[in-house]
Amino acid sequence: MKTYDIKDPSLAQEGKLRIDWAGKEMPVLKLIKERFAREKPLAGVPVSACLHITTETANLALTLKEGGADVVLCASNPLSTQDDVAAALVDYGIPVNAIRGEDNETYYSHIVTALEHKPRITMDDGADLVSTLHKDYTELAARVIGGTEETTTGVIRLKNMAGAGKLIYPIVAVNDAQTKHLFDNRYGTGQSTIDGITRATNVLWAGRKVVVCGYGWCGKGIARRAQGLGAQVIVTEVKPIPALEAAMDGYQVMPLIEACQIGRVFITSTGDMNVINKAHFLEMEDGAIVANSGHFNVEINIPALESLAKSKRRIRSSVDEYTLEDGRRIYLLGEGRLINLAAAEGHPASVMDMSFANQALCLEYLITMKGKLDPAVYPVPEEIDEEVGKLKLASMNITIDSLTEEQRDYLASWESGT
Ligand SMILES: NC(=O)c1ccc[n+]([C@@H]2O[C@H](COP(=O)([O-])OP(=O)(O)OC[C@H]3O[C@@H](n4cnc5c(N)ncnc54)[C@H](O)[C@@H]3O)[C@@H](O)[C@H]2O)c1
Repeated sequence: MKTYDIKDPSLAQEGKLRIDWAGKEMPVLKLIKERFAREKPLAGVPVSACLHITTETANLALTLKEGGADVVLCASNPLSTQDDVAAALVDYGIPVNAIRGEDNETYYSHIVTALEHKPRITMDDGADLVSTLHKDYTELAARVIGGTEETTTGVIRLKNMAGAGKLIYPIVAVNDAQTKHLFDNRYGTGQSTIDGITRATNVLWAGRKVVVCGYGWCGKGIARRAQGLGAQVIVTEVKPIPALEAAMDGYQVMPLIEACQIGRVFITSTGDMNVINKAHFLEMEDGAIVANSGHFNVEINIPALESLAKSKRRIRSSVDEYTLEDGRRIYLLGEGRLINLAAAEGHPASVMDMSFANQALCLEYLITMKGKLDPAVYPVPEEIDEEVGKLKLASMNITIDSLTEEQRDYLASWESGT
């Protein structure tokens, strides 16, 4: 008997409509779903997936089910679950263990329920499921063929596990596919972070001084979109090369402590902890807005903000107002959880089409490679990445040139020079 735990089964119809709507923007995944329906490459494979429970994830889960997989889902963040989508998936016969706003204890108990499904494949977004398995349920690992990881933070954690000799089975780093991070992290996080902050606050971006902490793939997208709306963007970094890139892309670059005296909206997406710390809150102007779009809410030192505040109130649904001793107010959005999912709907389906096409094809790949991969973190095979890129271009009615025979020979040679 499969178990599930969701907020309200009566939301299923609403969820189904929204899943259909997202599905229209996911043509690559649709092609894979049609093939999976014919070929059943995942027949009978139990899959435990810890992903954001969104309309796009629902389309992925339905694709895997069509391929024959026996999928159970839990959330990869306590605040990212869309309860109507969870209800719809349960109605489609896919157990979901996720309730928006669940506390940490429930969040981990849902991960445990997903693990009790005894997966042969794990799917993770941030590595909470895989690390729970490795810490407390190692007896399950022998059955596992492999797993996939969706995000930068998860890949970092898994590489650290592999480095420490602790990883027990192979993982494919879906995040590292070009058709994932170049688009999902950059354009997806770029657009949906601005969307989340706008929905939470209704601020005007034009003319606003916005500080983006971290100039990786997500930071690049956020900075570009904020600038496109007329914001004056300041970037903070800890690595010289992304900092240089930000400077040459036309942003001001400076230490965060200096940026605190100028900025009005602060957005972190670094994968790091305590990026915005006590000393920074002490420098911010009255009315500063602080949001995180990185995977975990540790990017903002919320306990430090709590300790500085003499009072706190929820002023809008995703906005907490902290009043400091001297009367300055700082507004924390979405409890520091990734704001694009806490206050908006996450990435647009069109970009998740590519991320999740990679996920679906990597599950098929893991099955074909069963027993042949050592415990390590593997890149997405180039053929899968290329295939996803080709299919996406075709779905956008874009054709490109191909190399001539002569060009192919030239590019493969070294003899001809000046
Ligand atoms: N919100 C979402 O939907 C979403 C989507 C994709 C990725 N993510 C998450 O966003 C985070 C960033 O992902 P990415 O792909 O951009 O990573 P990345 O590795 O490409 O970039 C991170 C950047 O942050 C910088 N950085 C680290 N510590 C810093 C600090 N203290 N101050 C300033 N800069 C610092 C690093 O030097 C690096 O350039 C990760 O946690 C990832 O999992 C979130």
